[in-house]
Amino acid sequence: MKLAEIAVSGAFTVTAEPILLGKPAVMTVKDAAGELVKGVEVFAAIEGVKDPISLGKTNTDEVLKVDAITDEVKKIALYAVKDGKYSFKVNTQTYPPLAGKTELKNVIATAVGDPYKSKGFTWMSSPLAEGKSAIIQYARKKDFDKKGEQELKLAAGASSDLVFSGEQDIKKNGIVRVNEVTLTKLQQGTTYVYRVGDGKNWTDLKEFTTLKRKQSFEFAVLGDTQSPSDLSLFDKILGDLNSKDMAFMIHVGDLIDDASKFKQWDDALNTLSRYDRIRSTNLVATLGNHEYMGDVNAQAARVIFNSTGNGPDLDKGGTYSVDYHNIHISVLGFTSDDKVLEQQLQWLKQDVKQSDKPWKILVTHKPPYFTNPFGGNEIMKEKLVPVVDELGIDIVFSGHDHSYGRTKKLKNGMDDPNGTVYIVSGTTGLKHYDAVADEKFEYVNMDNIAVSLRAKVDKDRITIKTVTSDGEVIDEFTVVNEDYKEK
Ligand SMILES: [Fe+2]
Ligand SMILES: [Fe+2]
Repeated sequence: MKLAEIAVSGAFTVTAEPILLGKPAVMTVKDAAGELVKGVEVFAAIEGVKDPISLGKTNTDEVLKVDAITDEVKKIALYAVKDGKYSFKVNTQTYPPLAGKTELKNVIATAVGDPYKSKGFTWMSSPLAEGKSAIIQYARKKDFDKKGEQELKLAAGASSDLVFSGEQDIKKNGIVRVNEVTLTKLQQGTTYVYRVGDGKNWTDLKEFTTLKRKQSFEFAVLGDTQSPSDLSLFDKILGDLNSKDMAFMIHVGDLIDDASKFKQWDDALNTLSRYDRIRSTNLVATLGNHEYMGDVNAQAARVIFNSTGNGPDLDKGGTYSVDYHNIHISVLGFTSDDKVLEQQLQWLKQDVKQSDKPWKILVTHKPPYFTNPFGGNEIMKEKLVPVVDELGIDIVFSGHDHSYGRTKKLKNGMDDPNGTVYIVSGTTGLKHYDAVADEKFEYVNMDNIAVSLRAKVDKDRITIKTVTSDGEVIDEFTVVNEDYKEK
């Protein structure tokens, strides 16, 4: 793009909210002292347009509101001028909405709240939707079947708009609204009908069933997906899991490859959401390094997964814990910062010690015992293993290495009948890495396959079957909890 030559002295700073097509653009100008300034003229240099256009001057409220700079997706540069002084240019673009005005999509059930009495969902809609609210209508199925829509109750939540700007082709960037609602005061073991919407538009009615207290049940573990060009194996795995009665699903992180590209989210979430049972099963999501790719604070992932916020302040929604029946699950979000890891581990210690659940499971993106021939996770082994030993964690599920393997029961790196099984959960996508196994591993898969782990909990034992996307069982083992006490 060619911009008009202007003298730049940086006397002002222009701040513009992301400019959404179909909505007024709002901007402010500050002077060198950081004070908002009135009467500054703001110009926009629009890609493909010869001369910059004047957008007007900041008003007495020190704000400039412009109905429409352009009605096309364009690169633009904004700058401000007053009394011959200029601001630096702000390079941005105009963004299209990433969902149709009445569209509601990518509904998933989140790991939030007490699974006997509550149920959380997130979904996407247009930032230009006429209805401004995030709402779920729901009713007990048996009431709804008898009396119909009059039985539907209403629960409201919150929305926020996410900006995706990582695509080279700027037409694929844009803004989407993410909505979240958590239903509370539900009855356990009860089937509900529900639909999500904005007050004007609604999805079709679907069903979910709250959990009922049990000591025996099933769950699934999904490894890295990260397969932006082809989700067929992920789709196959989920299609198969959709027939199972799962209490919850764990995803160990790297659902997407580049978090700043909307299409990757849209495709992966759509694959989860298109299966009625999958979309209504709580997703215990983990932030992997790819949730941070193009998104410094993994903001998109945090908003979309909306996991419970009971973790440390420095990783809200990334590091957290949830209970399902007799299992306490702690999840540590990815970090490359040793200090953050240190604080996550401090939190983990008090989190697990406070739990009276007989099973203790930990989920981390990077595995402490790894199958990657290039290594790279030594810090996890050094820092995490002593804490896992101290806390008596039964199983650690991890990802990142895109191959499947599990260790023997280990304590301090040695075989120990009271030790922990460390599992690298394989891939649910196309990307498979070579694996090496040291003597700590009891099983490592070397084949280029996608897998899921299906766990059956039966009081003091958990049996895990590792199944390929073609339905072949490649590994099966049982972890026995020696000091199981029913709660
Ligand atoms: Fe990773
Ligand atoms: Fe990965």
